[in-house]
Amino acid sequence: MNPRSPRRITCNLKVIRYLRSDSQVNRIYAIFEQSFSVTRPTCEPMSTTERQALASPRFAIGESDFLLDGQPLQIRCGEIHAPRVPREYWRHRLKLCRAMGLNTVCAYLFWNLHEPTPGHFDWSGQADAATFCRIAQEEGLWVLLRPGPYACAEWEMGGLPWWLLKDPDVRLRTTDPRFLDPAKRYLIEVGRVLAPLQVTRGGPILMVQVENEYGFLGKDAQYMGAIRQALIDAGFDVPMFACNPVQHLKDGYRADLFPVVNFGSDPAGAFKALREILPRGPLMCGEFYPGWFDTWGSPHHTGNEERYLGDLESMLKAGASFSIYMAHGGTTFGLWSGADRPFKPDTSSYDYDAPISEAGWTTPKFDRTRALFAQHLQPGEHIPEPPERNPTTSFAPVKASECAALFDHQPDATRDERPRTMEAYDQGFGCILYRTTLPPGPAATLQAEAVHDFGFVFVDGERVGVMDRRGRRFRVKLPARKQPAQLDILVEAMGRVNFGQEVHDRKGLHGPVRLGTDDGATELKGWEVFRIPLDAPMLARLRYDHPCHGPAVWRCAVHLDRPADTFLDMRGWGKGVAWVNGRCLGRFWNIGPTQTMYAPGPWLKQGANEFLVLDLMGPTRPVIAGLEQPILNELHPELDVALARRPQVVLSLERAYPVFVGQFEQGSKSQEIRFDRVARGRYFCIESLSSHDGKAFAAIAELDLIGQDGNALSRNDWTIAYVDSEERTREDGSAENAIDGQIASFWHTQWGDAQPNHPHRLVLDLGRTCSVAAFRYVPRQGPADVPGRIKDFRVYMGDDLIRG
Ligand code: GLA
Repeated sequence: MNPRSPRRITCNLKVIRYLRSDSQVNRIYAIFEQSFSVTRPTCEPMSTTERQALASPRFAIGESDFLLDGQPLQIRCGEIHAPRVPREYWRHRLKLCRAMGLNTVCAYLFWNLHEPTPGHFDWSGQADAATFCRIAQEEGLWVLLRPGPYACAEWEMGGLPWWLLKDPDVRLRTTDPRFLDPAKRYLIEVGRVLAPLQVTRGGPILMVQVENEYGFLGKDAQYMGAIRQALIDAGFDVPMFACNPVQHLKDGYRADLFPVVNFGSDPAGAFKALREILPRGPLMCGEFYPGWFDTWGSPHHTGNEERYLGDLESMLKAGASFSIYMAHGGTTFGLWSGADRPFKPDTSSYDYDAPISEAGWTTPKFDRTRALFAQHLQPGEHIPEPPERNPTTSFAPVKASECAALFDHQPDATRDERPRTMEAYDQGFGCILYRTTLPPGPAATLQAEAVHDFGFVFVDGERVGVMDRRGRRFRVKLPARKQPAQLDILVEAMGRVNFGQEVHDRKGLHGPVRLGTDDGATELKGWEVFRIPLDAPMLARLRYDHPCHGPAVWRCAVHLDRPADTFLDMRGWGKGVAWVNGRCLGRFWNIGPTQTMYAPGPWLKQGANEFLVLDLMGPTRPVIAGLEQPILNELHPELDVALARRPQVVLSLERAYPVFVGQFEQGSKSQEIRFDRVARGRYFCIESLSSHDGKAFAAIAELDLIGQDGNALSRNDWTIAYVDSEERTREDGSAENAIDGQIASFWHTQWGDAQPNHPHRLVLDLGRTCSVAAFRYVPRQGPADVPGRIKDFRVYMGDDLIRG
């Protein structure tokens, strides 16, 4: 039974009484009284279960299945994000989802997109979620809605609005009223717009998710309860669910939230863990990963297709429901891409190696998924043909001849004794310029507390260095000066981290800023601060003239006879943001892996198209060309501003004694290793001596350090101090994957161009001396024979393991 089919109307007025305000109830009574004889009951609130049971007779959670009109429904769902798909293509993509064999789509709402400033809501254009749901219904798809307030999703701050960070002490995703009150206000608004689209009101929305993978962050079931209640108060009466990865299913668990489990492999193991908290009821995987997201500077991710299809088949056969994350990734247009922790900014392309590619093309993975689903349809169910692929076009390189230097277009400055972060100047996105005067003096070192995210440092207009959050490098050498000199620190904010505590990601300069010489360090005071929000009003103020020097916006006009989808070749440019005809297409960066930007046909015009390119580093070739194919996997580490991804250091274990020597068990389970006595140090080194498969490789999915109080240490200031080997060409085996909070990503020693043998060493820089009583090791996930599972190992801790 698909959502398009009309149905007989029966209803319980008591329900209506519960859901609406008095004025609306009277209006509804009036309607019913016209056609029915109605007695107005005395009104006492219903219990949750009673209301849910009553509210959605069409859809319910049965003893073993989801039930639609009393019939078992296996939810074959796929994730798709409306803001990541050009609105003009929503129907095309939803038709593709249907043609892949899905009967449901799952969609996040991103709070920060819908409430750009406090109390001002936007449901227009790419933010028109209601229209997206209606089109889904028209295309025969049900909807699982994930309104947040937190989403994650490699989206700026995980969907949370930056303006919450204006309060220096707000505690996000907690019952802190400075977070909860605006969150409730937002959810009420979501109810106003989307509650009418619930299956209980003839719409496609079957279930609503409360929060997102909260177990990764905390265990406070009260907080989850508050968000659930806010959604009920907002008018949602369909069943509510909560998703978590296997290792956090019990964290924040509530009996009144239907649990689903997220995983990328081993469905049997995951569902076994789910049964521990859900003895009865349908089994559902809330996120099943066919691929993964990309971050700048790391290889493009592609999923293991055989395993993906094998696991899907086993879930289909088991009668389990699932949601493919992502069925269609699309593009994170604008400045909405987030960053993985500790700080790995996400690419704008969100192709995700999904069955439906970034530009909406079917792929072999799509065809094989479709063929698989065709073998598991309900009686009478059929899968329509996929719609035509949208046309593409290419155009020859066009030179950008005009540009506007950022430094020449400064709005009025704000004067401040000490630099503060962007939010303090009421700015959410873009760049911010901090200017002060350097006294005459010898060569010196400029040191900031922290820079989120890149600080381009100029002395009298000449770039002298870059501060780089990835390696927590916040020092730059300054030349000697005979007379006072102008110091400019142009800070580029990339996406706010979308995961963990790190979502408290204030952008800009974190003062104080000191000038260090041999005689000591002095704080630089008295700054001018210039906001550069990269928004339409700012772009409109730019005056273009001939080629210019330094950070600048370049402009070029491209004539198109036949506008169609194309991929902008950005390989002549450095690092920045691009727009076409006023639409922001996203970020680019020549280190890759993405080297093209998807430019949707409907956003291009017949005739002249205006392209703007902000380049913070300066182009090698200021040309724009249109390609027929995307380039998603071309890395250029040699072009990286930070020539070395990590400071060149020496690991010295000679005089160190291991704080633990042991052996990990085989398997994918997380293992906690307790030291005989508390260890102390700034550096934590794990050394693999062998692996369970006897091969040369070591891999780690996640590492957590446990303090004396039994809690995991905060990872806020952690970086990778040293790693002997990591695979970075054939796949993203970066060491940072061991501390990014995602068990689907992992550190893996080199296996492509070389295969160095054990011992392998990975050293965490905790940022300061810490006391560690134990650590938790999450092996690489996947089948039993997956390479890299460490067997014998040693652990060292100390303040002097690293030199240089
Ligand atoms: C998690 C989140 C998703 C997304 C994926 C990774 O499971 O719930 O929003 O971030 O990881 O793509």
